[in-house]
Amino acid sequence: PRILVLAGGISHERDVSLRSGRRVADSLAEHGLSVELRDPDATLLHYLRETRPDVVWPALHGASGEDGALRGLLDFIGIPYVGSRADAARLAWDKPTAKTLVARAGVRTPASIALSRDAFRELGAHSILEEISDEFSGPLVVKPAQGGSAQGVTMVEDRSLLPRAMVDAYTYCDVALIEQKISGTEIAVGVIDNGAGPVALPAVEIEPLSGVYSFEARYNAGETRFYVPARISEDVAARAIEAALAAHGALGLRHISRVDLIIDGAGTPWFLEANVLPGLTETSILPQALEAAGHDLGWVYHALAEAAIA
Ligand code: DAL
Ligand code: MG
Repeated sequence: PRILVLAGGISHERDVSLRSGRRVADSLAEHGLSVELRDPDATLLHYLRETRPDVVWPALHGASGEDGALRGLLDFIGIPYVGSRADAARLAWDKPTAKTLVARAGVRTPASIALSRDAFRELGAHSILEEISDEFSGPLVVKPAQGGSAQGVTMVEDRSLLPRAMVDAYTYCDVALIEQKISGTEIAVGVIDNGAGPVALPAVEIEPLSGVYSFEARYNAGETRFYVPARISEDVAARAIEAALAAHGALGLRHISRVDLIIDGAGTPWFLEANVLPGLTETSILPQALEAAGHDLGWVYHALAEAAIA
């Protein structure tokens, strides 16, 4: 098939996407496929109509890529694409919505409050701090309700730093999510479905050397130690995989996703989020999990493209 890999785009994760896209295109090309790599711009619709690729492989992170916008456009013009449908992408991309849906499927997720920029302004930092003190104890995590790669995310140990953290989150999104921080082991579980049903990859344990899996810790080689499989018992790993598959299913995701979880001291997995288009760069988690499971990246990315066409 003629595969068009889209990478770059207009989101805050543009640079990450360029790296993911190049690696996907290289893996497919090494596998002997005819691939084109393109950075979508205003000419995209015209280009798609003229060239009509057999399938689009969207390696776009963040807004337009993971929020369903581009996927809706591809549905509109009838070109198949790898990954989740527009509707499912929209649900997963919005963390408060995803948490609600996944909690209903029986997976725990940290207590949280979503607060719009306007509400934050109206209520004022003081009354928000009061409300938080009533409902939460211990450290918090503040993040944009929609976003990726830890941009705008702050660990708040000292409550007086909460307003500052909120303002950082609002840089990326009009809604901020204040979440209870669960301490434990940070893991991520990739899910792949090339037509035969969703299969979970081995859980990857994340140990950022700085203590926080920040943007820098994600994309600079050597700043995070990964353990594949995660250093958790077989029983706990099975629970994590069950939680990841439940989240993937509850959100109606397709072909590929990565579910991020914290395993608490009792071995219970807590859902943080599901990524519609997980990072596929040299330092990213999902490719490491694929390779650890003995898969060839090109083979898998090709199988997903075939599943999209079928
Ligand atoms: N949003 C980045 C790409 C990730 O979650 O891997
Ligand atoms: Mg993410």
